[in-house]
Amino acid sequence: MIIVLLGPPGSGKGTQAALICKKFGFFHFSTGNILRKKVKKKTKIGKEIELIINAGKLISDKIIIQIVNSKITEKLDHYKGFLFDGFPRNLDQAKALDNLLNKHSQSLTNVIQLYVDNEEVLKRLQKRKLEEKRQDDNEDVLKSRLKVYLNETKPLLDFYQKENKLNKINGMQTINDVNNKINDLILSLKSTW
Ligand code: AP5
Ligand code: MG
Repeated sequence: MIIVLLGPPGSGKGTQAALICKKFGFFHFSTGNILRKKVKKKTKIGKEIELIINAGKLISDKIIIQIVNSKITEKLDHYKGFLFDGFPRNLDQAKALDNLLNKHSQSLTNVIQLYVDNEEVLKRLQKRKLEEKRQDDNEDVLKSRLKVYLNETKPLLDFYQKENKLNKINGMQTINDVNNKINDLILSLKSTW
């Protein structure tokens, strides 16, 4: 089973992805976490990535698709499922994902949209800034991240709706309530999968 979690910054993708992967034995594939690991290594490419993340912009599709390609090749056969958190983020990435899965004789099972309003996002990321000290969790960078979400990532909702693969979940409930809804959805997908 291959699932994409889609939602704005702070919508709870990472939080829910960790819970889902633990419960169902899926591989948690967060492009953001992979990129932040590269930044920590302070290589030339890591420093370039850091500048883009801290400007709230997207890393180039070429770099992202290389990362996704190698992880899919390495992990796909070893897990019961794959959960993408933060990928795809634009139409070209969505099409690249379809092609990559196709090469492995697989296809995307479903996309789960977590919807959360901007006020709640700001509140959550202000709190997380104190806890995790993520450099892109400040109000100016968040404006840019939200703009990128609106212009580049949100159009994916239509794309997946047309493929009949989209499910929407209200992310403005407790972590536990959101998780229960997602678990029910995955169980129902499993029964028809
Ligand atoms: P990425 O790491 O993907 O960040 P993001 O999409 O901005 O999302 P966040 O990680 O901030 O939020 P989340 O939805 O995971 O929420 P979380 O569970 O943490 O990307 C970062 C950057 O990397 C991008 O800007 C870009 O530069 C680059 N990048 C990544 N992928 C890319 C790609 N594919 N292409 C190009 N560039 C890419 O929750 C947030 C907080 O809220 C936490 O403190 C949590 O405890 C709390 N919380 C969660 N759920 C709830 C709840 N229900 N109620 C109350 N609080 C909650
Ligand atoms: Mg995250």
